[in-house]
Amino acid sequence: MRAGTRDLLTFAELDASGTSRLLDLAARLKRGAAGGKKAPLAGRTLAMIFQKPSTRTRVSFEVGMHQLGGHAVALAPGDMQLSRGETLGDTARTLSRYADAVLARVFAHSDVEALAAGSSIPVINGLSDAFHPCQTLADLMTVREKKGSGRGGRSLEGLKLAWIGDGNNVCNSLILGCARTGMDVSVAAPKGFEPLEWVVRESREAVRVDVSADPAAAAGGADVVATDTFKSIHNEDAGRLAAFLPRYRVGRRLMGKAKKDAVFMHCLPATRGREVEAAVIDGPQSAVWDEAENRLHSQKALLLALLGPGAPRCGPRRPASAARGGNGKRPA
Ligand code: CP
Ligand code: NVA
Repeated sequence: MRAGTRDLLTFAELDASGTSRLLDLAARLKRGAAGGKKAPLAGRTLAMIFQKPSTRTRVSFEVGMHQLGGHAVALAPGDMQLSRGETLGDTARTLSRYADAVLARVFAHSDVEALAAGSSIPVINGLSDAFHPCQTLADLMTVREKKGSGRGGRSLEGLKLAWIGDGNNVCNSLILGCARTGMDVSVAAPKGFEPLEWVVRESREAVRVDVSADPAAAAGGADVVATDTFKSIHNEDAGRLAAFLPRYRVGRRLMGKAKKDAVFMHCLPATRGREVEAAVIDGPQSAVWDEAENRLHSQKALLLALLGPGAPRCGPRRPASAARGGNGKRPA
């Protein structure tokens, strides 16, 4: 993490070397070669708030805490006084007295920011309407495994990732992650569904980021082709499908525009026949199961970085981080 930053809300909190260190640790954890204590998070607790459903995020964080010797408590809003009007700030202050970190899956990104502002322990965004930084960690780890070059396959410099479809929460964090690892990005999204403007602008300082409405141009020569559902949990309006279909569906023809050895990625859950053809997601170029598995390894690395031996001790929170990007607007 950047010096003084203990939350992971967007991915902007991570710089290039912090990202690289986390990915190195995640790879060692996956190989069982991380060394160190057997239960480095013994006695540590992660409080998890889920305003929305989850399979991968919920289970991988809970299993990850268990494997590191710690404990996770999953809380649905209906189980908490949040449902009766207790504020996020008061909830955060209370959880900070019991737990060592908070993971929150929320509708409005401002909710995870409110938790972070009220909390004296690290807050991790487990998906908001605007960002999904934990997914980005797993995605970068997967691209390293499939396409990395240099010593230990750790370099992603010069690779091209094509994002096809909705320039959504997953896309926003992934662009920030690509910028930290030297990967160029080409987004093809219908008008009105582009990624956040500040994310694109800031990422262009490090890598090439093209945004167009042309899937074939975006996929051209790509090393990675990625997409996501066209109906996110926070936006299930069936009417939005008309903007995407059939043009933005990733099928074999579109994959044919990418490099021959390109991989297909999707954060899951997927709807076959809508954003992706079954022949692609279930075909030989698909990396989606390794991508899902890597949620576990990369989040264990994150938890160790935040809570493990040598991690900064939690104390009074410094003023709100300039790295936070609330509901699409990046604070100055
Ligand atoms: N990719 C992802 O976050 O999956 P879940 O919604 O199942 O957690
Ligand atoms: N964009 C999707 C991602 C789910 C993991 C959503 O927000 O529902």
